[in-house]
Amino acid sequence: MRTLTLRQPDDWHLHLRDGAALAAVAPATEAVFARALVMPNLKPPVRTVADALAYRARIKAVAPRLDPLMTLYLTDHTTPGDIAEAAAHPHVVAAKLYPAGATTNSDAGVTDIAALAPVLDAMAEHGLTLCVHGEVTQSDVDVFDREARFLDEVLAPLVARHPGLKVVLEHITTAEGVAFVQAHAANVGGTVTPQHLLLNRNALFEGGLRPHHYCLPVLKRERHRQALAAAVTGGDPRFFLGTDSAPHAQGAKESACGCAGVYSAPFALGLYAEVFEAAGALDRLESFASLNGPAFYGLPANAGTVTLVREADPVPTALPFDDTRIVPFRAGGAVAWRVLPR
Ligand code: DOR
Ligand code: ZN
Repeated sequence: MRTLTLRQPDDWHLHLRDGAALAAVAPATEAVFARALVMPNLKPPVRTVADALAYRARIKAVAPRLDPLMTLYLTDHTTPGDIAEAAAHPHVVAAKLYPAGATTNSDAGVTDIAALAPVLDAMAEHGLTLCVHGEVTQSDVDVFDREARFLDEVLAPLVARHPGLKVVLEHITTAEGVAFVQAHAANVGGTVTPQHLLLNRNALFEGGLRPHHYCLPVLKRERHRQALAAAVTGGDPRFFLGTDSAPHAQGAKESACGCAGVYSAPFALGLYAEVFEAAGALDRLESFASLNGPAFYGLPANAGTVTLVREADPVPTALPFDDTRIVPFRAGGAVAWRVLPR
């Protein structure tokens, strides 16, 4: 049987939600990943260090082996003082920029990015990483163009104005996103999800409307998927694992106005292994999953290991979620690599 042993990986972009939903999904992440960068788009958002530490304690209560690394949700009211406080706390490692209206629970996000300059200066000064949802929000911009437009119109000028800032372009979905990261120095990194590496936008419409393939940024053309796969399997250390696993109840997805988000956490590492295997680059999976992220954040790699086996791992059609169910990525199918229990 073929096996693959890696340093234990981390998930550098994860939605865990709260309450009963948190309790339902967090154990799947701690079964595989040592650390997770936890997104702050709760209702209300995680805005302060106090919010983040309280949320962290709720996560630890249901997933005690996971080391949750917290992010603050930037708003129009975030101050340089909030940043200094966050940077002084080892459990808070980043702040998240949601352009207002870009995605789930982003209403309280930033409406005037130029006005954020003093906050970004403080982040650069204190070494707090900026994680970016990179899409413009104007309704007249084609949804498939929103990432590329954001890079040109918002992120390029932002990075130029704040050259000392560490920036992660999250869930990159386009060749332009890949090129943006590659064109910058080591202070600009990028995460890539399993779904954007495995699917193109045809998967949204295969035999009918597929709500479980809908996420933001939305899936793109095949040429973009190929650019992403080439980037992550090519060994560039600026790309690292971030699932963007984003659970929503089955009914909220299978709806006349379905929520954005793909729930991949329980099978994510095996899904990434498929991508690296297809590229003949399984020897580079460890860098992407376990080494590049910690290096970017200035943290040590994990001491432990995980082992994958080349053996079909069946994906259930649904999993329990709060008082309802959640449909995971590739529900009813199988993943080619299975993670052995730790
Ligand atoms: O598809 C997505 N779901 N994209 C995001 O940016 C947010 C996420 C969520 O929180 O559900
Ligand atoms: Zn996300």
